[in-house]
Amino acid sequence: MLTSDRLRIVLAASEAVPFSKTGGLADVSTALAKSLDQQGHSVTVIVPDYRQLRLAKQEQLPAIADAGLRFSISMNGRYVTGGVNWTMLPDSGVKVLLISQPDYFDRPQLYMEDGEGYQDNCERFCFFSRAVMEVCQQMVLRPDIIHCNDWQTGLIPGLLHSQFAGRPGFENAASVMTLHNMAFQGRFWYHDMPLTGMDARYFNMHHMESWSDLNLLKTGISFADQITTVSPTYAQEICTTDGGEGLDSLLSFRKRDLVGILNGIDTSIWNPESDPHLSASYTVQEINPGKAKCKSALQQRMGLPQRDRVPLFGMVSRMSDQKGFDLIAECASRLLFDDIQIAFLGTGDARYEDYLRHLAYENPSKVAAYIGFDDGLAHQIEAGADAFLMPSRFEPCGLNQMYSLRYGTLPVVRRVGGLADSVVNVEPETLRSGVATGFVFDDYSSSQLAETVERAVELYRQPGVWDQVMKNGMSADWSWQSSARHYVDTYRRALERRHERAAENRQ
Ligand code: ADP
Ligand code: GLC
Repeated sequence: MLTSDRLRIVLAASEAVPFSKTGGLADVSTALAKSLDQQGHSVTVIVPDYRQLRLAKQEQLPAIADAGLRFSISMNGRYVTGGVNWTMLPDSGVKVLLISQPDYFDRPQLYMEDGEGYQDNCERFCFFSRAVMEVCQQMVLRPDIIHCNDWQTGLIPGLLHSQFAGRPGFENAASVMTLHNMAFQGRFWYHDMPLTGMDARYFNMHHMESWSDLNLLKTGISFADQITTVSPTYAQEICTTDGGEGLDSLLSFRKRDLVGILNGIDTSIWNPESDPHLSASYTVQEINPGKAKCKSALQQRMGLPQRDRVPLFGMVSRMSDQKGFDLIAECASRLLFDDIQIAFLGTGDARYEDYLRHLAYENPSKVAAYIGFDDGLAHQIEAGADAFLMPSRFEPCGLNQMYSLRYGTLPVVRRVGGLADSVVNVEPETLRSGVATGFVFDDYSSSQLAETVERAVELYRQPGVWDQVMKNGMSADWSWQSSARHYVDTYRRALERRHERAAENRQ
Protein backbone atom coordinates (compact mmCIF):
# COMPACT_ATOMS: atom_id res chain seq x y z
CA MET A 1 0.00 0.00 0.00
CA LEU A 2 1.35 3.47 -0.90
CA THR A 3 1.74 5.80 2.10
CA SER A 4 -0.71 8.17 0.44
CA ASP A 5 -3.32 5.39 0.36
CA ARG A 6 -2.93 4.74 4.07
CA LEU A 7 -5.62 6.54 6.01
CA ARG A 8 -5.22 7.77 9.58
CA ILE A 9 -8.51 6.81 11.16
CA VAL A 10 -9.78 7.77 14.60
CA LEU A 11 -12.75 5.63 15.62
CA ALA A 12 -14.69 7.20 18.50
CA ALA A 13 -17.29 5.09 20.29
CA SER A 14 -18.86 4.74 23.70
CA GLU A 15 -18.09 0.98 23.89
CA ALA A 16 -15.46 -1.47 22.61
CA VAL A 17 -14.66 -5.04 23.67
CA PRO A 18 -12.79 -6.14 25.74
CA PHE A 19 -12.98 -2.83 27.65
CA SER A 20 -16.74 -2.25 27.85
CA LYS A 21 -19.92 -3.67 26.37
CA THR A 22 -23.69 -3.42 26.61
CA GLY A 23 -24.51 -4.48 23.04
CA GLY A 24 -23.36 -5.00 19.48
CA LEU A 25 -21.67 -1.59 19.15
CA ALA A 26 -18.85 -2.85 21.39
CA ASP A 27 -18.19 -5.85 19.11
CA VAL A 28 -18.36 -3.70 15.98
CA SER A 29 -15.94 -0.98 17.17
CA THR A 30 -13.19 -3.49 17.89
CA ALA A 31 -13.72 -5.83 14.97
CA LEU A 32 -13.92 -3.04 12.39
CA ALA A 33 -10.80 -1.37 13.83
CA LYS A 34 -8.88 -4.66 13.63
CA SER A 35 -9.97 -5.28 10.06
CA LEU A 36 -9.01 -1.75 8.94
CA ASP A 37 -5.63 -2.27 10.60
CA GLN A 38 -5.17 -5.56 8.74
CA GLN A 39 -5.90 -3.71 5.51
CA GLY A 40 -2.93 -1.42 6.23
CA HIS A 41 -4.58 1.69 7.70
CA SER A 42 -3.53 3.42 10.90
CA VAL A 43 -6.33 3.11 13.46
CA THR A 44 -6.81 4.68 16.88
CA VAL A 45 -9.92 3.77 18.87
CA ILE A 46 -11.02 6.31 21.52
CA VAL A 47 -13.45 5.16 24.26
CA PRO A 48 -14.28 6.27 27.82
CA ASP A 49 -12.32 4.70 30.67
CA TYR A 50 -15.27 3.14 32.54
CA ARG A 51 -15.26 1.27 35.83
CA GLN A 52 -16.35 -1.82 33.83
CA LEU A 53 -12.83 -1.95 32.42
CA ARG A 54 -11.28 -1.95 35.87
CA LEU A 55 -13.56 -4.83 36.88
CA ALA A 56 -12.80 -6.98 33.81
CA LYS A 57 -10.63 -10.02 34.36
CA GLN A 58 -7.07 -8.74 34.08
CA GLU A 59 -5.96 -11.70 31.94
CA GLN A 60 -8.52 -10.65 29.31
CA LEU A 61 -7.05 -7.15 29.08
CA PRO A 62 -3.87 -5.89 27.46
CA ALA A 63 -1.54 -3.78 29.64
CA ILE A 64 -2.83 -0.23 30.13
CA ALA A 65 -0.54 2.76 30.75
CA ASP A 66 -0.96 6.45 31.50
CA ALA A 67 -0.36 8.45 28.32
CA GLY A 68 0.76 11.38 30.45
CA LEU A 69 -1.71 13.87 29.00
CA ARG A 70 -4.05 16.05 31.07
CA PHE A 71 -6.51 18.45 29.50
CA SER A 72 -9.32 20.73 30.69
CA ILE A 73 -12.59 21.51 29.02
CA SER A 74 -14.92 24.32 30.00
CA MET A 75 -18.29 22.63 30.57
CA ASN A 76 -20.70 25.52 30.75
CA GLY A 77 -18.18 27.70 32.58
CA ARG A 78 -16.80 24.96 34.88
CA TYR A 79 -13.41 23.53 34.00
CA VAL A 80 -13.40 19.73 33.99
CA THR A 81 -10.08 17.92 33.79
CA GLY A 82 -9.55 14.64 31.98
CA GLY A 83 -6.65 12.30 31.37
CA VAL A 84 -5.73 9.60 28.87
CA ASN A 85 -4.68 6.00 29.37
CA TRP A 86 -3.58 3.97 26.43
CA THR A 87 -3.16 0.40 25.26
CA MET A 88 -3.24 -1.73 22.11
CA LEU A 89 -5.91 -4.14 20.91
CA PRO A 90 -4.49 -7.65 21.30
CA ASP A 91 -2.90 -9.16 18.16
CA SER A 92 -3.12 -5.95 16.17
CA GLY A 93 -1.55 -2.58 15.57
CA VAL A 94 -4.69 -0.76 16.75
CA LYS A 95 -4.03 1.83 19.48
CA VAL A 96 -6.71 2.46 22.07
CA LEU A 97 -6.99 5.72 24.01
CA LEU A 98 -9.16 5.62 27.11
CA ILE A 99 -10.54 8.98 28.21
CA SER A 100 -10.45 9.07 31.97
CA GLN A 101 -12.67 11.34 34.04
CA PRO A 102 -13.69 9.47 37.18
CA ASP A 103 -16.69 11.67 38.06
CA TYR A 104 -18.25 10.86 34.70
CA PHE A 105 -17.06 7.35 33.95
CA ASP A 106 -16.18 5.57 37.19
CA ARG A 107 -19.77 4.45 37.82
CA PRO A 108 -21.50 1.08 38.27
CA GLN A 109 -23.00 1.10 34.76
CA LEU A 110 -22.33 2.76 31.41
CA TYR A 111 -25.53 4.71 30.79
CA MET A 112 -28.20 3.89 33.37
CA GLU A 113 -28.96 2.36 36.75
CA ASP A 114 -32.24 0.81 37.92
CA GLY A 115 -33.89 1.55 34.58
CA GLU A 116 -33.10 5.30 34.74
CA GLY A 117 -30.52 7.00 32.49
CA TYR A 118 -27.91 9.03 34.39
CA GLN A 119 -29.16 12.62 34.79
CA ASP A 120 -25.95 14.06 33.40
CA ASN A 121 -25.62 11.83 30.31
CA CYS A 122 -25.58 14.88 28.08
CA GLU A 123 -22.69 16.38 30.05
CA ARG A 124 -20.78 13.07 30.19
CA PHE A 125 -20.87 12.45 26.47
CA CYS A 126 -20.43 16.09 25.41
CA PHE A 127 -17.30 15.94 27.54
CA PHE A 128 -16.26 12.68 25.88
CA SER A 129 -16.82 14.06 22.36
CA ARG A 130 -14.94 17.26 23.13
CA ALA A 131 -12.16 15.22 24.75
CA VAL A 132 -11.79 13.19 21.53
CA MET A 133 -11.08 16.43 19.65
CA GLU A 134 -8.70 17.73 22.33
CA VAL A 135 -6.79 14.47 22.39
CA CYS A 136 -6.54 14.34 18.57
CA GLN A 137 -5.05 17.81 18.70
CA GLN A 138 -2.75 17.46 21.71
CA MET A 139 -1.46 14.01 20.74
CA VAL A 140 -1.00 15.21 17.14
CA LEU A 141 -3.00 12.34 15.68
CA ARG A 142 -3.72 14.35 12.50
CA PRO A 143 -6.69 12.17 11.50
CA ASP A 144 -7.88 11.93 7.92
CA ILE A 145 -11.13 10.46 9.20
CA ILE A 146 -12.94 10.73 12.50
CA HIS A 147 -15.44 7.88 12.51
CA CYS A 148 -18.21 8.56 15.04
CA ASN A 149 -20.69 6.00 16.34
CA ASP A 150 -24.13 6.71 17.78
CA TRP A 151 -25.38 9.72 19.70
CA GLN A 152 -22.63 9.62 22.33
CA THR A 153 -20.20 10.87 19.65
CA GLY A 154 -22.72 12.82 17.54
CA LEU A 155 -21.31 16.16 18.64
CA ILE A 156 -17.92 15.47 17.02
CA PRO A 157 -18.90 16.22 13.37
CA GLY A 158 -20.34 19.53 14.62
CA LEU A 159 -17.11 20.41 16.44
CA LEU A 160 -15.05 19.48 13.38
CA HIS A 161 -17.22 21.69 11.22
CA SER A 162 -17.10 24.71 13.53
CA GLN A 163 -14.55 25.44 16.23
CA PHE A 164 -11.97 22.89 15.09
CA ALA A 165 -12.30 23.65 11.36
CA GLY A 166 -8.87 24.51 9.95
CA ARG A 167 -7.09 24.13 13.30
CA PRO A 168 -3.64 22.55 13.07
CA GLY A 169 -4.09 18.81 12.76
CA PHE A 170 -7.62 19.03 11.35
CA GLU A 171 -6.98 20.79 8.02
CA ASN A 172 -7.84 17.68 6.00
CA ALA A 173 -10.03 15.76 8.42
CA ALA A 174 -13.47 14.51 7.40
CA SER A 175 -16.13 12.91 9.59
CA VAL A 176 -18.25 9.80 9.16
CA MET A 177 -21.28 9.20 11.37
CA THR A 178 -22.51 5.63 11.83
CA LEU A 179 -26.06 5.09 13.05
CA HIS A 180 -26.33 1.84 14.99
CA ASN A 181 -29.80 2.50 16.36
CA MET A 182 -32.19 5.37 15.62
CA ALA A 183 -34.14 4.64 18.80
CA PHE A 184 -31.38 6.24 20.87
CA GLN A 185 -30.76 9.83 19.80
CA GLY A 186 -29.33 11.59 22.83
CA ARG A 187 -32.18 14.11 23.17
CA PHE A 188 -31.77 16.60 26.02
CA TRP A 189 -33.42 19.86 27.03
CA TYR A 190 -32.15 22.99 25.34
CA HIS A 191 -30.53 24.31 28.54
CA ASP A 192 -27.80 21.74 27.91
CA MET A 193 -26.69 23.49 24.71
CA PRO A 194 -23.76 25.34 26.41
CA LEU A 195 -22.26 21.94 27.33
CA THR A 196 -21.63 21.28 23.66
CA GLY A 197 -19.24 24.20 23.26
CA MET A 198 -21.00 24.96 19.95
CA ASP A 199 -22.18 28.44 18.99
CA ALA A 200 -25.82 28.99 19.98
CA ARG A 201 -26.69 29.84 16.35
CA TYR A 202 -26.49 26.11 15.54
CA PHE A 203 -29.45 25.45 17.81
CA ASN A 204 -31.88 25.40 14.90
CA MET A 205 -33.95 22.78 13.07
CA HIS A 206 -31.30 22.27 10.38
CA HIS A 207 -28.50 21.37 12.76
CA MET A 208 -28.86 20.51 16.44
CA GLU A 209 -32.46 21.06 17.46
CA SER A 210 -35.44 18.77 17.12
CA TRP A 211 -38.79 19.68 18.62
CA SER A 212 -37.16 22.24 20.96
CA ASP A 213 -34.69 19.67 22.30
CA LEU A 214 -30.97 19.42 21.79
CA ASN A 215 -30.45 16.27 19.70
CA LEU A 216 -26.90 14.90 19.55
CA LEU A 217 -27.57 12.20 16.93
CA LYS A 218 -29.17 14.80 14.69
CA THR A 219 -26.08 16.96 15.18
CA GLY A 220 -23.94 14.12 13.86
CA ILE A 221 -26.22 13.50 10.88
CA SER A 222 -26.38 17.20 9.98
CA PHE A 223 -22.66 17.88 10.05
CA ALA A 224 -21.02 14.57 9.03
CA ASP A 225 -19.42 14.33 5.61
CA GLN A 226 -20.79 10.81 5.18
CA ILE A 227 -23.42 8.89 7.10
CA THR A 228 -23.53 5.13 7.34
CA THR A 229 -25.82 2.67 8.99
CA VAL A 230 -25.31 -0.99 9.70
CA SER A 231 -27.32 -2.73 6.95
CA PRO A 232 -28.65 -1.80 3.50
CA THR A 233 -32.26 -2.53 4.49
CA TYR A 234 -32.05 -0.35 7.62
CA ALA A 235 -30.60 2.46 5.46
CA GLN A 236 -33.89 2.40 3.53
CA GLU A 237 -36.11 1.94 6.57
CA ILE A 238 -34.75 5.01 8.38
CA CYS A 239 -35.74 7.24 5.49
CA THR A 240 -39.40 6.37 6.15
CA THR A 241 -41.75 7.78 8.78
CA ASP A 242 -41.98 4.35 10.43
CA GLY A 243 -38.24 3.78 10.79
CA GLY A 244 -36.75 7.27 11.01
CA GLU A 245 -37.80 8.04 14.59
CA GLY A 246 -38.52 11.65 13.60
CA LEU A 247 -35.30 12.15 11.61
CA ASP A 248 -36.52 10.59 8.34
CA SER A 249 -36.81 13.92 6.47
CA LEU A 250 -33.27 14.91 7.39
CA LEU A 251 -32.02 11.46 6.37
CA SER A 252 -33.91 11.59 3.08
CA PHE A 253 -32.43 15.04 2.48
CA ARG A 254 -28.94 13.58 3.02
CA LYS A 255 -29.66 10.37 1.10
CA ARG A 256 -26.83 11.03 -1.35
CA ASP A 257 -24.39 10.78 1.58
CA LEU A 258 -26.06 7.84 3.33
CA VAL A 259 -24.99 4.22 2.84
CA GLY A 260 -25.89 0.93 4.56
CA ILE A 261 -22.95 -1.40 5.23
CA LEU A 262 -23.75 -4.76 6.81
CA ASN A 263 -21.71 -5.45 9.96
CA GLY A 264 -19.36 -8.40 9.94
CA ILE A 265 -18.38 -10.54 12.90
CA ASP A 266 -15.03 -11.11 14.56
CA THR A 267 -14.36 -14.63 13.35
CA SER A 268 -11.41 -15.02 15.71
CA ILE A 269 -13.72 -14.59 18.72
CA TRP A 270 -16.83 -16.25 17.30
CA ASN A 271 -15.51 -19.53 15.95
CA PRO A 272 -16.88 -22.92 17.07
CA GLU A 273 -13.57 -24.51 16.17
CA SER A 274 -11.55 -22.55 18.73
CA ASP A 275 -14.06 -20.97 21.14
CA PRO A 276 -12.61 -21.32 24.66
CA HIS A 277 -16.07 -21.01 26.26
CA LEU A 278 -17.28 -24.30 24.74
CA SER A 279 -16.94 -27.77 26.20
CA ALA A 280 -16.32 -29.22 22.71
CA SER A 281 -15.29 -27.78 19.37
CA TYR A 282 -16.72 -28.45 15.92
CA THR A 283 -16.47 -27.40 12.27
CA VAL A 284 -18.74 -27.44 9.25
CA GLN A 285 -16.96 -30.63 8.09
CA GLU A 286 -17.53 -32.32 11.43
CA ILE A 287 -20.44 -30.83 13.32
CA ASN A 288 -21.04 -33.77 15.62
CA PRO A 289 -20.29 -34.97 18.21
CA GLY A 290 -18.98 -31.44 19.10
CA LYS A 291 -22.26 -29.58 18.74
CA ALA A 292 -24.25 -32.32 20.48
CA LYS A 293 -21.86 -32.11 23.45
CA CYS A 294 -22.32 -28.32 23.57
CA LYS A 295 -26.09 -28.86 23.64
CA SER A 296 -25.91 -31.29 26.51
CA ALA A 297 -23.55 -28.98 28.46
CA LEU A 298 -25.91 -26.05 27.90
CA GLN A 299 -28.92 -28.03 29.10
CA GLN A 300 -26.98 -28.99 32.19
CA ARG A 301 -25.82 -25.44 32.90
CA MET A 302 -29.33 -24.02 32.43
CA GLY A 303 -30.99 -26.76 34.48
CA LEU A 304 -32.97 -28.22 31.57
CA PRO A 305 -33.44 -31.98 31.07
CA GLN A 306 -30.49 -33.34 29.06
CA ARG A 307 -32.33 -34.73 26.04
CA ASP A 308 -30.69 -34.79 22.63
CA ARG A 309 -33.72 -35.06 20.31
CA VAL A 310 -35.73 -32.11 21.64
CA PRO A 311 -35.39 -28.87 19.64
CA LEU A 312 -33.63 -26.33 21.89
CA PHE A 313 -34.18 -22.65 21.04
CA GLY A 314 -31.84 -19.96 22.38
CA MET A 315 -32.16 -16.21 22.79
CA VAL A 316 -29.47 -13.75 23.94
CA SER A 317 -30.60 -10.19 24.02
CA ARG A 318 -31.02 -6.82 25.65
CA MET A 319 -34.51 -7.09 27.10
CA SER A 320 -36.14 -4.11 25.44
CA ASP A 321 -39.21 -3.42 23.30
CA GLN A 322 -36.98 -3.57 20.22
CA LYS A 323 -36.35 -7.28 20.54
CA GLY A 324 -39.84 -8.81 20.36
CA PHE A 325 -40.29 -10.08 23.93
CA ASP A 326 -43.93 -8.96 23.85
CA LEU A 327 -44.55 -11.35 20.94
CA ILE A 328 -42.95 -14.20 22.86
CA ALA A 329 -45.13 -13.43 25.89
CA GLU A 330 -48.27 -13.42 23.71
CA CYS A 331 -47.61 -16.82 22.17
CA ALA A 332 -45.63 -18.58 24.93
CA SER A 333 -48.35 -21.09 25.79
CA ARG A 334 -48.78 -22.02 22.11
CA LEU A 335 -45.00 -22.40 21.69
CA LEU A 336 -44.69 -24.54 24.81
CA PHE A 337 -47.52 -26.82 23.69
CA ASP A 338 -44.88 -28.47 21.47
CA ASP A 339 -42.10 -30.60 22.89
CA ILE A 340 -39.43 -27.88 22.82
CA GLN A 341 -36.95 -26.18 25.16
CA ILE A 342 -36.00 -22.49 25.28
CA ALA A 343 -32.91 -20.97 26.96
CA PHE A 344 -32.98 -17.19 27.52
CA LEU A 345 -30.06 -14.96 28.47
CA GLY A 346 -30.59 -11.24 28.87
CA THR A 347 -31.01 -8.20 30.99
CA GLY A 348 -32.96 -4.98 30.61
CA ASP A 349 -36.56 -3.89 31.22
CA ALA A 350 -37.77 -5.19 34.58
CA ARG A 351 -41.12 -6.32 33.15
CA TYR A 352 -39.45 -8.65 30.65
CA GLU A 353 -36.95 -9.91 33.21
CA ASP A 354 -39.78 -10.70 35.65
CA TYR A 355 -41.89 -12.29 32.94
CA LEU A 356 -39.12 -14.66 31.85
CA ARG A 357 -38.23 -15.60 35.41
CA HIS A 358 -41.90 -16.46 35.89
CA LEU A 359 -42.13 -18.41 32.63
CA ALA A 360 -39.10 -20.49 33.64
CA TYR A 361 -40.50 -21.06 37.13
CA GLU A 362 -43.81 -22.28 35.70
CA ASN A 363 -42.19 -24.50 33.01
CA PRO A 364 -38.96 -25.85 34.53
CA SER A 365 -38.58 -28.71 32.06
CA LYS A 366 -39.00 -26.45 29.03
CA VAL A 367 -37.80 -22.94 29.82
CA ALA A 368 -34.65 -21.62 31.49
CA ALA A 369 -33.82 -17.95 31.96
CA TYR A 370 -30.55 -16.46 33.12
CA ILE A 371 -31.12 -12.80 33.90
CA GLY A 372 -27.78 -11.03 33.72
CA PHE A 373 -24.86 -10.37 31.40
CA ASP A 374 -22.57 -13.33 30.78
CA ASP A 375 -20.34 -13.42 27.74
CA GLY A 376 -19.35 -17.08 28.18
CA LEU A 377 -22.97 -18.19 28.42
CA ALA A 378 -23.79 -16.18 25.26
CA HIS A 379 -21.22 -18.28 23.40
CA GLN A 380 -22.56 -21.49 24.94
CA ILE A 381 -26.12 -20.68 23.86
CA GLU A 382 -24.98 -19.90 20.31
CA ALA A 383 -23.27 -23.29 20.15
CA GLY A 384 -25.61 -25.45 22.22
CA ALA A 385 -28.98 -24.35 20.85
CA ASP A 386 -30.49 -25.83 17.68
CA ALA A 387 -32.26 -22.62 16.69
CA PHE A 388 -32.06 -18.98 17.77
CA LEU A 389 -34.94 -16.52 18.29
CA MET A 390 -34.76 -12.92 17.02
CA PRO A 391 -38.33 -11.73 16.43
CA SER A 392 -37.27 -8.07 16.50
CA ARG A 393 -39.64 -5.14 16.02
CA PHE A 394 -36.73 -3.43 14.26
CA GLU A 395 -33.09 -4.49 13.97
CA PRO A 396 -30.49 -2.14 12.46
CA CYS A 397 -28.15 -5.09 11.85
CA GLY A 398 -28.11 -7.68 14.62
CA LEU A 399 -25.01 -9.73 15.30
CA ASN A 400 -26.51 -12.73 17.05
CA GLN A 401 -28.10 -14.13 13.90
CA MET A 402 -24.67 -14.08 12.25
CA TYR A 403 -23.07 -15.74 15.28
CA SER A 404 -25.86 -18.33 15.09
CA LEU A 405 -25.28 -19.00 11.41
CA ARG A 406 -21.58 -19.54 12.06
CA TYR A 407 -22.38 -21.91 14.94
CA GLY A 408 -24.87 -24.01 12.94
CA THR A 409 -27.82 -22.69 14.97
CA LEU A 410 -30.73 -21.84 12.70
CA PRO A 411 -32.03 -18.29 13.22
CA VAL A 412 -35.76 -17.58 13.48
CA VAL A 413 -36.04 -13.90 12.54
CA ARG A 414 -38.40 -11.20 11.40
CA ARG A 415 -37.74 -9.79 7.92
CA VAL A 416 -36.48 -6.40 9.07
CA GLY A 417 -33.22 -4.41 8.92
CA GLY A 418 -30.06 -6.50 8.97
CA LEU A 419 -32.01 -9.69 9.69
CA ALA A 420 -33.59 -9.39 6.22
CA ASP A 421 -30.10 -8.93 4.77
CA SER A 422 -28.47 -11.92 6.43
CA VAL A 423 -30.95 -14.82 6.76
CA VAL A 424 -32.46 -16.70 3.79
CA ASN A 425 -35.86 -18.27 4.52
CA VAL A 426 -36.28 -22.04 4.27
CA GLU A 427 -38.68 -22.71 1.38
CA PRO A 428 -38.72 -25.29 -1.41
CA GLU A 429 -36.83 -23.09 -3.87
CA THR A 430 -34.09 -21.96 -1.44
CA LEU A 431 -33.67 -25.52 -0.18
CA ARG A 432 -33.26 -26.77 -3.75
CA SER A 433 -30.70 -24.12 -4.59
CA GLY A 434 -28.78 -24.66 -1.34
CA VAL A 435 -29.10 -21.10 -0.01
CA ALA A 436 -31.66 -21.54 2.81
CA THR A 437 -30.18 -20.64 6.21
CA GLY A 438 -33.08 -20.00 8.62
CA PHE A 439 -36.72 -19.10 9.19
CA VAL A 440 -38.06 -15.66 8.29
CA PHE A 441 -41.49 -14.08 8.92
CA ASP A 442 -42.89 -10.72 7.89
CA ASP A 443 -45.50 -9.24 10.23
CA TYR A 444 -44.81 -8.17 13.77
CA SER A 445 -47.40 -10.62 15.12
CA SER A 446 -47.32 -13.40 17.68
CA SER A 447 -49.26 -15.75 15.39
CA GLN A 448 -46.61 -15.41 12.65
CA LEU A 449 -43.86 -15.97 15.21
CA ALA A 450 -45.62 -19.08 16.53
CA GLU A 451 -46.19 -20.46 13.01
CA THR A 452 -42.52 -19.89 12.20
CA VAL A 453 -41.32 -21.66 15.33
CA GLU A 454 -43.66 -24.53 14.42
CA ARG A 455 -42.10 -24.60 10.95
CA ALA A 456 -38.70 -24.88 12.57
CA VAL A 457 -39.83 -27.72 14.85
CA GLU A 458 -41.24 -29.57 11.85
CA LEU A 459 -37.97 -29.26 9.92
CA TYR A 460 -36.03 -30.37 12.98
CA ARG A 461 -37.84 -33.71 12.62
CA GLN A 462 -36.18 -34.12 9.20
CA PRO A 463 -32.53 -34.32 10.32
CA GLY A 464 -31.12 -34.64 6.79
CA VAL A 465 -32.66 -31.38 5.61
CA TRP A 466 -31.88 -29.61 8.90
CA ASP A 467 -28.22 -30.60 8.63
CA GLN A 468 -28.02 -29.21 5.10
CA VAL A 469 -29.47 -25.86 6.23
CA MET A 470 -26.95 -25.77 9.10
CA LYS A 471 -24.13 -26.31 6.63
CA ASN A 472 -25.40 -23.59 4.29
CA GLY A 473 -25.21 -21.05 7.14
CA MET A 474 -21.88 -22.27 8.51
CA SER A 475 -20.23 -22.03 5.09
CA ALA A 476 -21.11 -18.37 4.53
CA ASP A 477 -18.44 -15.70 5.02
CA TRP A 478 -19.44 -13.21 7.76
CA SER A 479 -15.95 -11.80 8.32
CA TRP A 480 -15.33 -8.05 8.32
CA GLN A 481 -13.06 -8.00 5.26
CA SER A 482 -15.50 -6.89 2.60
CA SER A 483 -17.46 -4.56 4.92
CA ALA A 484 -14.22 -2.90 6.07
CA ARG A 485 -13.31 -2.27 2.42
CA HIS A 486 -16.71 -0.70 1.98
CA TYR A 487 -15.98 1.59 4.96
CA VAL A 488 -12.68 2.62 3.35
CA ASP A 489 -14.57 3.60 0.18
CA THR A 490 -16.91 5.63 2.35
CA TYR A 491 -13.98 7.33 4.13
CA ARG A 492 -12.54 8.35 0.75
CA ARG A 493 -15.93 9.63 -0.33
CA ALA A 494 -16.11 11.65 2.93
CA LEU A 495 -12.75 13.26 2.13
CA GLU A 496 -13.98 14.15 -1.36
CA ARG A 497 -17.20 15.60 -0.01
CA ARG A 498 -15.28 17.60 2.54
CA HIS A 499 -13.10 19.15 -0.17
CA GLU A 500 -16.16 19.86 -2.31
CA ARG A 501 -17.88 21.59 0.59
CA ALA A 502 -14.75 23.58 1.47
CA ALA A 503 -14.50 24.73 -2.16
CA GLU A 504 -18.19 25.73 -2.15
CA ASN A 505 -17.62 27.77 1.04
CA ARG A 506 -14.64 29.59 -0.52
CA GLN A 507 -16.69 30.74 -3.53
P1 ADP B 1 -27.91 -4.94 20.15
O1 ADP B 1 -26.64 -4.22 19.86
O2 ADP B 1 -29.11 -4.26 19.63
O3 ADP B 1 -28.04 -5.30 21.58
P2 ADP B 1 -26.73 -7.10 18.55
O4 ADP B 1 -27.29 -8.39 18.07
O5 ADP B 1 -26.07 -6.26 17.52
O6 ADP B 1 -27.87 -6.34 19.33
O7 ADP B 1 -25.58 -7.38 19.60
C1 ADP B 1 -25.80 -7.83 20.90
C2 ADP B 1 -24.48 -8.30 21.45
O8 ADP B 1 -24.56 -8.28 22.87
C3 ADP B 1 -24.14 -9.71 21.06
O9 ADP B 1 -22.74 -9.87 21.04
C4 ADP B 1 -24.75 -10.53 22.21
O10 ADP B 1 -24.15 -11.76 22.37
C5 ADP B 1 -24.45 -9.61 23.38
N1 ADP B 1 -25.37 -9.73 24.51
C6 ADP B 1 -26.60 -9.18 24.64
N2 ADP B 1 -27.13 -9.48 25.84
C7 ADP B 1 -26.20 -10.22 26.49
C8 ADP B 1 -26.15 -10.83 27.78
N3 ADP B 1 -27.16 -10.73 28.63
N4 ADP B 1 -25.03 -11.52 28.11
C9 ADP B 1 -24.00 -11.62 27.23
N5 ADP B 1 -23.99 -11.08 26.01
C10 ADP B 1 -25.07 -10.38 25.63
C1 GLC C 1 -27.33 -1.63 17.64
C2 GLC C 1 -28.42 -2.39 16.93
C3 GLC C 1 -28.00 -3.74 16.40
C4 GLC C 1 -26.64 -3.65 15.74
C5 GLC C 1 -25.63 -3.06 16.70
C6 GLC C 1 -24.24 -2.96 16.10
O1 GLC C 1 -27.28 -1.78 18.98
O2 GLC C 1 -29.57 -2.53 17.74
O3 GLC C 1 -28.96 -4.19 15.47
O4 GLC C 1 -26.21 -4.94 15.34
O5 GLC C 1 -26.04 -1.78 17.05
O6 GLC C 1 -24.22 -2.21 14.92
